This record gives sequence, C-alpha cells and structure tokens, in this order.
Amino acid sequence: MNKQSIVEFESVSKNFEGAHGVTAVRDATFEIREGQTVAIMGPSGSGKSTILNLAAGLDNPTSGSVYVQGRDLSELSDNQLTRLRRDKIGLIFQSFNLLNTLTALENVSLPLRLRGIAKTEAEERAKSLLDLVGLNDRSDHLPDEISGGERQRVAIARAMVAEPVLLLADEPTGNLDSEAGEKVLRILKDLNSEFGTTVILVTHDRSAAENCNRVFEIVDGIISEESNDRRAGASLTEAMATE
Ligand SMILES: Nc1ncnc2c1ncn2[C@@H]1O[C@H](COP(=O)(O)OP(=O)(O)O)[C@@H](O)[C@H]1O
Ligand SMILES: [Mg+2]
Repeated sequence: MNKQSIVEFESVSKNFEGAHGVTAVRDATFEIREGQTVAIMGPSGSGKSTILNLAAGLDNPTSGSVYVQGRDLSELSDNQLTRLRRDKIGLIFQSFNLLNTLTALENVSLPLRLRGIAKTEAEERAKSLLDLVGLNDRSDHLPDEISGGERQRVAIARAMVAEPVLLLADEPTGNLDSEAGEKVLRILKDLNSEFGTTVILVTHDRSAAENCNRVFEIVDGIISEESNDRRAGASLTEAMATE
C-alpha cells in the first residue's frame, strides 16, 4: 500500500533578514510519509526549529514549497491554515508551554474546548489521554505541582487530544533527566505504533534518533538524510566505544 505523504519540502529555503541576515534553511527537499518516525539532529542554531516551524505553517519559506498532506501551505487562506494546524498537527516544545493556572486535565481538554466540544466530552477524552501517558492520578494538579517529566507528558497528551496526523516535537527531552526523558520518548513511540501518528523529533540524543525510522542531520541549514548503512556504522562505533 502506498502510504500518504504527510510532509513534503520542495527546495525550501528560509532567510531571516536583519542586521545579520541568516539563511536558516538552505534548499531542503524531502518527503515524510504516514506513520514514519523521523529524527532531526544537528548543532544549536543549525535550523532544526526553523524546519519544524515551516512544517507547522508557523513560518513561511523564503523560497520553495511546503506541503502537508499534499496541500501547498502557501495556497491556504489564514483560516484554512489555522484549521489545518489545529486539526492535523500536534506540537511539543522543550519548555512544555502549559498554562500555569489550569490543571493537567484542563490543559489537555483546552484544545477541544476551543473547538466547541462540550466540557464533559472534552474532559472525558482528556482523561483517556492522561491515562495513556500514565498520569490519570495527576488530573487535578497544576503544572507547578508536578515534575518536569510529568509536565512534558501532559504536554504530549494535550498535543494528541485532537488526534493529529503529525506530531512535531522540538527537543522534548531537553529539560528532563534521563529517566523522565526515556519515558517521554517511549510514549512518542507508542503513540506512533498505536495511532500511526507521524512523528518528527528534534533531538540531541543519538540513541533516541536510532529508534526512529529515519535520521536527518542538519548543519548550517543544509539538511541531509543518513543512510541506513551509515546509521548501522554509527551504532557499531558507539557500541565499540562503550565496550
Ligand atoms: N526569528 C528569527 N529571526 C532571525 N534569526 C532567526 C530567527 N529564528 C531563527 N533564527 C536564526 O536562524 C538560525 C537557525 O535557528 P533555529 O532553527 O532556531 O536553530 P536550532 O533549532 O537548530 O537551534 C540561527 O542562526 C538563528 O539565530
Ligand atoms: Mg531549536
């Protein structure tokens, strides 16, 4: 079966104007299909977040085209773009971005409430998502009453509550200790296998990247995909180094 195209970049470049003009992404061309998990690795400032922002339609390319499920984002009206983002894309950031005055349950149900779903139904679905990330006993807690790892799991539940086809995670384990980070990565993987959600994960963690179907590397705005051979080589080198 031919899997649907979820994200496609066609000769995409992104320049930031200003006193120090920067080319954050240079001529990126790639396609990510339904159900794939993709890691993006690269040094700080290399263009990783810019790639995610372009894929989410939060930013426009300077040249080239970005397609989500085959639709050219530049051809959508503001309303269509807002709707596509709301219905198709879940976002997770390093810094959680939860609302501090809302409980875990309220944070997770908010995206549904914003699209007019009644409170009882929204909270029912939010509860099942909190269950899924292992936080059913934290529903009534405020963000500052739970740990960083738990906050990130609330953020994942919130990103997934509307059943997006695409989950974009920007260094989601960057602020977590390794145990909490592993839990978060495990959840992303489970969501991918359970719902077929396509996941794009920006990470500095080589072993997290090795768990993805594909690994992209970006250096100075130039993105390239690691071949499977090279990936096999990389894990072998790592295995030898730790022996
Ligand atoms: N809004 C912006 N205005 C100007 N320059 C920006 C902006 N966003 C990112 N950049 C620059 O683009 C480059 C890539 O940034 P970014 O995608 O955030 O990198 P990464 O996520 O890999 O750390 C960096 O040089 C950064 O300073
Ligand atoms: Mg970044």
